[in-house]
Amino acid sequence: MIKKVHVRTIGCQMNVYDAERMKDILRLLEYEDTEKPDDADLVIFNTCYIREKASAKLFSEIGKLTPYKNAKKAKGQRMVIAVAGCVAQALGDEIKSRVPFVDIVLGTQAYHRFSNALEVVLKQNSQVVDTEFPPESKFDFLPENKTNAVSAFLAVQEGCDKFCHYCVVPYTRGAEYSRPIESIMKEADILLQQGVKEITLLGQNVSAYHGIGKDGKTNSLSGLIHKIADIKELTRLRIMTSHPMDITEELIDCFANVPKLMPFFHLPVQHGSDKILKAMNRKHDADYYKRLIERIRKKRPDIAMSSDFIAGFPGETDKDFEDMLSLVKEIGFAQAFSFKYSSRPGTPAADMPNQIPEEIKEERLYRLQDLLRSQQLAFNRNMIGKKTKILFDDNGKHGDKIFGRTPYMQPAFIELTGNIRENLLGQEREVVINEAVLNNVKGKLV
Ligand code: 5AD
Ligand code: SF4
Repeated sequence: MIKKVHVRTIGCQMNVYDAERMKDILRLLEYEDTEKPDDADLVIFNTCYIREKASAKLFSEIGKLTPYKNAKKAKGQRMVIAVAGCVAQALGDEIKSRVPFVDIVLGTQAYHRFSNALEVVLKQNSQVVDTEFPPESKFDFLPENKTNAVSAFLAVQEGCDKFCHYCVVPYTRGAEYSRPIESIMKEADILLQQGVKEITLLGQNVSAYHGIGKDGKTNSLSGLIHKIADIKELTRLRIMTSHPMDITEELIDCFANVPKLMPFFHLPVQHGSDKILKAMNRKHDADYYKRLIERIRKKRPDIAMSSDFIAGFPGETDKDFEDMLSLVKEIGFAQAFSFKYSSRPGTPAADMPNQIPEEIKEERLYRLQDLLRSQQLAFNRNMIGKKTKILFDDNGKHGDKIFGRTPYMQPAFIELTGNIRENLLGQEREVVINEAVLNNVKGKLV
């Protein structure tokens, strides 16, 4: 009998990837996806622990399932509730004791054992908490990556050894791990055979990639990029996300010499004050980042830069904050994510003195976002009148328009003439941009 699974994912692209991979496992167990949790046989909360806001909602969200779970029970059926992702990894047993009706708690490196966990729950009627970092790699045990998307994620690296003082990732995702080249190439082939045209190589710190090749030699990210870009069926390649200290000359060269690698680089800087960067344990100063961007732009002048910023880190003075705004003004970002500092249990920054009051954090974030928004709008407007290529990746209902992305990741709505929608999906075509707002651009086929 077909069973139904409802998956709720919040957080980063890695979580989105993990959700897809869990669905791959569950498909083999005859579960199909459902949009609503109401009568699902299995509900998975795929959680994020990076900021308090993301993790705090979990317990109330699980609570909301009580009536549905009870209604199923009254019918003699069962709703299995699973918590996966970074909150599962960080809180483990605490989830089990706080919400006894959670059946499965599955850590970030253990979800390939989903079937075992389900079997224990269904046959033995007991809870499972599996937050081990097992010696085997989950990637060796996951079934084929199934998709009908044009653009897909491919996790090539996971975990982080950088230990920035605010960040939980080294604890929730574990030590830096790189998948071997062969395993990545196999997954890339499977994705492309299914019609994928764009692959984003994912990793918490993808720039630290150091995977073993068939010949036993270690490959860097630039080596991997060359290998994947050589696959004929691939149209576009992207990488996400990197650390400034791992950017090599070879990687910069890839942006200049590998046409399939898109000219969009998400390279988080986090702050612009040397004092705060040091307190964050970022291992680089503001000047290093600025010079790095100069070097990148020299080799690939049209590159669009993107970044992450944290406002209100402990000890941040008005002057430090102004230094962050200066860095933003000096570099100019096409897009960026910015956050209020959020104190995370177990990280060194949580115990630092001079925590910044909430209202000051809010005010600074507002000013930072205002500046970033104006840069994003300027970047988008700069496209008006220019020709660019769009990869069409969504056939959804956008009236007389079809959706795709520019090389610079801008969402683009392109006017259709006649009934050519079907043919365009998965294709890269030249367009001219004639309108631009903060969150997208519009244009016409040329
Ligand atoms: N508070 C606020 N933002 C954070 N990030 C990571 N940890 C925290 C935290 N404790 C941000 C960083 C990182 C992005 C994924 O999330 O900017 O690059
Ligand atoms: Fe977290 Fe990124 Fe720093 Fe690693 S490099 S600790 S993932 S912010």
